[in-house]
Amino acid sequence: MLKIHAGFMLAGLFSMVTGVTIAMSARKKKWWLSIHKKLGSAGSSCVILGFMAALYMVSRGTGEHFAVPHTYLGIVTILAVLFTYTMGIMQFKVRRKVVNIRLIHRWSGRVTLSIMLLNLLSGSFLIGML
Ligand code: HEM
Ligand code: HEM
Repeated sequence: MLKIHAGFMLAGLFSMVTGVTIAMSARKKKWWLSIHKKLGSAGSSCVILGFMAALYMVSRGTGEHFAVPHTYLGIVTILAVLFTYTMGIMQFKVRRKVVNIRLIHRWSGRVTLSIMLLNLLSGSFLIGML
């Protein structure tokens, strides 16, 4: 279950980093937004599956959920992914506030990917890989 948890989180980060790289470097191409959305959706789905795997893993093990710093940072990271995803969608739904929502999405996306990378490192420390 640990491999599934870590694997989904790694795949999620990889998918979102690729999506953001496309948003930053291929903005002149017609397809950038469609690929950015698809990679953002795939990445967010991986993070949710990775979270379900973590819950199952801990409930089959110690049963003590959210007991170590990796797990609190984990919850913050998962909420940040969902927030960024929601802001990505909302900028097309609430047109009056598009400028603000777009700015929030850009910044929350950058912060999300940074804390996600930190959390991958903290998980790797936790199991003694680093
Ligand atoms: C959780 C997944 C996602 C992440 C981490 C993410 C992250 C980002 C980041 C960091 C940028 C700024 C890129 C730059 O500096 O040029 C960006 C731009 C953008 N994203 Fe996302 N995004 C995600 C999902 C989505 C979704 C689902 C949509 C739409 C439905 C979307 C729509 C956009 C748009 C329209 C821009 C351009 C904003 C602008 O022109 O300032 N994103 N995204
Ligand atoms: C951004 C990526 C990651 C996120 C968001 C994340 C999130 C979480 C969360 C929320 C939990 C708590 C589950 C619970 O207490 O019920 C957890 C547990 C755990 N994660 Fe991660 N994780 C990530 C990456 C990793 C990686 C890469 C590893 C190992 C290589 C790892 C190893 C573990 C371990 C061993 C536990 C169980 C801790 C315990 O027994 O209390 N995680 N993770």
